[in-house]
Amino acid sequence: MANGKKLYIQTFGCQMNVRDSRRMASIMQSLSYEPTEEPSRADLILINTCSIRQEVEHKTYSALGRLRRLKARRPELILGAAGCVAQQEGEALLKRFPYLDLVVGTHQAHRLPELLRTVRERKERVAVTDFLDGNPDRFQGHTLQIPNPKSQIPNNGNRVKALVTIMEGCDNYCSYCIVPYVRGREVSRSSEDILREIRELARSGVKEVTLIGQNVNSYAGYGSNTLPSTDKGTALPGLLKLINEIAGLFRIRFTTSHPRDLSEELIKAFGRLEKLCEHIHLPLQSGSDFILRQMNRGYCREDYLRKVAELRRASPGIAISTDIMVGFPGEREEDFTDTLNLLEKVRFEAIFSFKFSPRPPTLASKLSGEIPEEEKSRRLRLLQAVQKQITLEKNRGLVGKEEEILVEGQSKRDPDWLTGRTLSNRVVNFPGEKSLVGQLVPVKITEAYQNSLKAEIL
Ligand code: SAH
Ligand code: SF4
Ligand code: F3S
Repeated sequence: MANGKKLYIQTFGCQMNVRDSRRMASIMQSLSYEPTEEPSRADLILINTCSIRQEVEHKTYSALGRLRRLKARRPELILGAAGCVAQQEGEALLKRFPYLDLVVGTHQAHRLPELLRTVRERKERVAVTDFLDGNPDRFQGHTLQIPNPKSQIPNNGNRVKALVTIMEGCDNYCSYCIVPYVRGREVSRSSEDILREIRELARSGVKEVTLIGQNVNSYAGYGSNTLPSTDKGTALPGLLKLINEIAGLFRIRFTTSHPRDLSEELIKAFGRLEKLCEHIHLPLQSGSDFILRQMNRGYCREDYLRKVAELRRASPGIAISTDIMVGFPGEREEDFTDTLNLLEKVRFEAIFSFKFSPRPPTLASKLSGEIPEEEKSRRLRLLQAVQKQITLEKNRGLVGKEEEILVEGQSKRDPDWLTGRTLSNRVVNFPGEKSLVGQLVPVKITEAYQNSLKAEIL
C-alpha cells in the first residue's frame, strides 16, 4: 500500500517531544508515510518545537526559517510545526512563516491525518491548539509501533530502549517554567494502557523502558484498577512493581522526578525492584533556600539533602543527576555559593546546567533583580568547572570495577566497538560482536573520561 511518501521530523526539547515525534511518525506511517533523514526528499516536514529557554526557541525559529527555501523549490511540500512553540504561538506562527501549512498544538498530535487532509484537499492553512485536559483522546496513538525496523526516527533507531509516557502536563507552576502553559494540566495515563504497551514492547525485543512525564512522581494511576492505590505517593511504586514482573524486560528507568513528591515508597523501590536501574534524575535548580522559595519549588535545601541521604540508604550505589539553573532574578553571590557547596556536598554523577531565561508569561519573567548576562555566564562556568572535577573523579573511581552493560548498538565511529550503558546510566564503549546488541554483558572498566567509560568484556 506504499504511496511512496516521505516524512521528515526535526525534534527539539525534551523526551516528551522525542516521544511525540515518534508517535506522529507512527501515525503517519499508518498512512504509508515512510520516515526519511533528508528534508530535501520529504513530502511532509514537521518541526517539533521547544520553548523551555529563549535560545532553544530561537533554534526552532531558525529551523522553521530554513524551510522557506525548500517550499519555494517544491510548493507541494507540506510544512508543519508541532510541540511547545506551536502551542504557545498558534495562528501567529502561520503569520510569521507564510509558507507554513500546519500548526499542531501539544494535545492535538493524534489529529494529524485529518489536519493534513484539510491542508491538501481544501488548500487551507490550519492551526489547532485546544487543550484536551482530562480527555483520554490525548493519549491516542501512544501504543502505535513503527513497523519498519530501519526507521531512523529518534528513539526508534534504537530497538533496545523505548520511552513510555505515563503522565502528561504539569501543575507545579515553578515560577520560571513555561511547561504548565504549553503542556496543560497534569493527567495520568491508565496503568492498563501503560502495561499493555510495555508488554508489547518487551515482546518485540525492547529490553529497557524509561517511563516519562514532566513530574512522574505525581503519577496518579488514572483509570486503573490494577494498582493497590491511586494515591499520588504510592501509584508510581505500584506501577513499577507491575512493570518489574514483565518477562523479557531487563531494565526500568523513570524521569523526571520532582524532589518534593519523591515518596518514601518510591525511594524504597530502588532497593527492592531488581529491574529498576540505580539512577535517578532529581532536579535541584538551586542550593539556596531563598531562591528555591522564589522558584516555588516546594522544598528547601535540607529537604533535598534528606532525600538524597534516604536514596543512598535504600540503594547505596545509586547515581544521582540533577538540573541546576544560575542567574535567577535576585540571585545573590551567597545564593550561588550555596548552590556550589551543595554540589560539593551531594557529589552528583552528572548535572545539566542552564542560565535563567525569562519566559513570558511566567511569574519569574516579571521579577526585578535581573542578573547581567556576563554574570550568568561567569556563574555557569564556575558551576560547570566544579562539577567537571566531581564527574571525572567519580568516573575514575570506576576503573577496575565490574559493571553490567545493556548493549544498545555498534559504535558510530568503529563497527568493531559496542556502546551501552551501566545501571547508573553511564555510557560505556568496548570491543565486541554485533550479536551482543540487546544483551546484558558483564565488563570491566578500563578507562574513564568526562562523558564516557572504556571497558573490556569479562
Ligand atoms: N519537569 C522537569 C524539567 C523541566 S525542564 C522538572 O521539574 O525538573 C528541564 C530543565 O530546564 C529544568 O529542570 C530547569 O533546570 C530548566 N529550565 C526550565 N525553565 C527554565 C528557564 N526559564 N530558564 C532556564 N532554565 C530553565
Ligand atoms: Fe516546569 Fe516545575 Fe513543572 Fe518541571 S515541575 S515542568 S520545572 S513547572
Ligand atoms: Fe521543551 Fe516543551 Fe519539553 S518546552 S522541554 S519540549 S515540554
